Amino acid sequence: MAHQVGIVGASGYGGVELLRLADAHPAVDVAVIAAHAQAGQQVSALFPNLPGPRTFDAIDVDQLAGLDLVFLATPHAPALELGSALARRGTPVVDLSAAFRLPAEGFARWYGEEHPEPTLAPASDGTHGGERAAYGLPEHTRATVRGARLVANPGCYPTAALVGLVPLAPLLQPGSVVIDAKSGTSGAGRGAADSLHFSHVHGDLVAYGAPGHRHTGEIEHWLSVLGGRDLGPVSFTPHLVPMARGLLATSYAALAPGVSADDVRTALDEAYADEPFVAVLPPGTFPHTKALAGSNGVQVSAVVDERTGRVLVTAAEDNLGKGAAGQAVQNANILLGLDETTGLTAIGMYP
Ligand SMILES: NC(=O)c1ccc[n+]([C@@H]2O[C@H](COP(=O)([O-])OP(=O)(O)OC[C@H]3O[C@@H](n4cnc5c(N)ncnc54)[C@H](OP(=O)(O)O)[C@@H]3O)[C@@H](O)[C@H]2O)c1
Repeated sequence: MAHQVGIVGASGYGGVELLRLADAHPAVDVAVIAAHAQAGQQVSALFPNLPGPRTFDAIDVDQLAGLDLVFLATPHAPALELGSALARRGTPVVDLSAAFRLPAEGFARWYGEEHPEPTLAPASDGTHGGERAAYGLPEHTRATVRGARLVANPGCYPTAALVGLVPLAPLLQPGSVVIDAKSGTSGAGRGAADSLHFSHVHGDLVAYGAPGHRHTGEIEHWLSVLGGRDLGPVSFTPHLVPMARGLLATSYAALAPGVSADDVRTALDEAYADEPFVAVLPPGTFPHTKALAGSNGVQVSAVVDERTGRVLVTAAEDNLGKGAAGQAVQNANILLGLDETTGLTAIGMYP
């Protein structure tokens, strides 16, 4: 029998991408599609790609607790409440928000509020999983995800940055990592904002949130934990680009003395040789965001600039795919004991 799952925040961009993926997933049935202000509204009225008579449900914790798994695709405040309540009742949860991605101290620093459930957040010594939330970057944490009840799906920017940088961590000079990243406007969610109007975004390219964008803390913490060494502070600048989907992270870092282009290539090849969702491109070939649209893939490429002694790593993904809903389904597959690729075999659309 198919696993009964719920999606909370189904009226948002991350939630509706989850619904699209779950509808096509052979081993899950979507039993609950819950929304907040949009509860009672027809799904097709918001999302014409999903025709039919379905309406958004209201959020009912007791109903959600009886399911085999719940996806949370809400802002972090409701996710803190719902994720804690469901995890304490033993319901597996994959949370797309930032509620459980950082240790309590890191959360307080980057989100400006005390974590209400510090014992459910990852520990500051890097421990995660078990009773605590597991950080769900399966290529580097799948064993921990397998033993968890609550999975913190990584942020869209951290996913691309970490996939590119974690395997290279032993080869880099601490304090030298600079990440320049760009995302399409769906990264900001469905809510209206003046800066996201077509007339502002079309034909424009702008940086935002630097320094100190919240994803900086997530990248710094997990780059050190998963990379196995403290790489110090990271400079991170996101940009908004005039496209609906797609994210590209371009990272620069100084190589440790004696590290060669072959060492870089070998580290990436060894990390991802058996990974179905990560493609390492030949040096000198750069990933296209468009090639990943609608898929759970990430494409990574690294080139060494011998003149400056730096490595340049580019990683592209669909921010709603591997950057959000695709990776959430990948984590759910692990929690449900399914093959990780179940329901995620779609290849990106191109052109
Ligand atoms: N967009 C991305 O590329 C992306 C990538 C990675 C992670 N994320 C994270 O995923 C989460 C969802 O992002 P999104 O882009 O899908 O946002 P969104 O389009 O703004 O959707 C937010 C969803 O949360 C619901 N919601 C809002 N306030 C709520 C409340 N107080 N209680 C319960 N539900 C509430 C909304 O319901 P109503 O519409 O019915 O009010 C809507 O379904 C966020 O935490 C975001 O940081 C997003």
